[in-house]
Amino acid sequence: AVNRTPLIAGNWKMNLDHLQAVAFVQKLHWTLKEAKHEAGSVEVAVFPPFTDLRTVQTLLDADKIDFALGGQDLSAHDSGAYTGEISGQFLAKLDAKYVIIGHSERRQFHNETDEVVAAKTQAALRHGLAPVICVGETSEDLEKFGASAVPVGQLEVALEGVAADADIVVAYEPVWAIGSGQAATPDQAQEVCAKLRAVVADKLGADAAARTRVLYGGSVKSGNIAGFMREPDVDGALVGGASLVVDEFAAIVRFQK
Ligand code: G3P
Repeated sequence: AVNRTPLIAGNWKMNLDHLQAVAFVQKLHWTLKEAKHEAGSVEVAVFPPFTDLRTVQTLLDADKIDFALGGQDLSAHDSGAYTGEISGQFLAKLDAKYVIIGHSERRQFHNETDEVVAAKTQAALRHGLAPVICVGETSEDLEKFGASAVPVGQLEVALEGVAADADIVVAYEPVWAIGSGQAATPDQAQEVCAKLRAVVADKLGADAAARTRVLYGGSVKSGNIAGFMREPDVDGALVGGASLVVDEFAAIVRFQK
């Protein structure tokens, strides 16, 4: 994590409507303010459902709250006859900085292949969004191939044709750790995150590898975040369940305290 600003990202998944989102973001902002959290020491990002984005963007802007905003997915296409899809252009117009791509729930429930993930990565970059590329092995993969083979392979495909100066984030989320309460150990996370950084080095070069944040995700809580953040190749966390509880998420953001 040396020289890389940690990124703590809250993936709300399909939770919080736009009214609940306002209350949540305001409370999170005040909780961090009261704790005198030093803005800038850690980048905080929230990934609300699409229908909340406009409301959250207006609130962040009006109250000068420095959380970054991201979408949970985007279309591989820019516009046209794709009913129900959301273009990267729309996300960019709402000041989204990031977009999650290839979350295991998209891969599992929406049949997103590595090729779809690669096409979506390109779509994000076309519109100036930083893709948060999610990779990770299932428990069957873990048994058959060990921890790193599947995520490494997924990232290799996603980074095909990505420019060396592209702004990307990688998130290692072992599927068996997501929502299970059973997080990887910091050692396990470090081992795979280091290999993913090596993929970035191989595909995009050493500068990109030194600059790119690699996150860990999967049952991150206030009680285990510090252990992950002590690892040299873990630059933050992609948080699901605990990102919906203000005090928990604020404590994760304040992992150094
Ligand atoms: O994208 C974050 C996520 O998949 C991890 O979820 O609930 O285990 O923190 P959770």
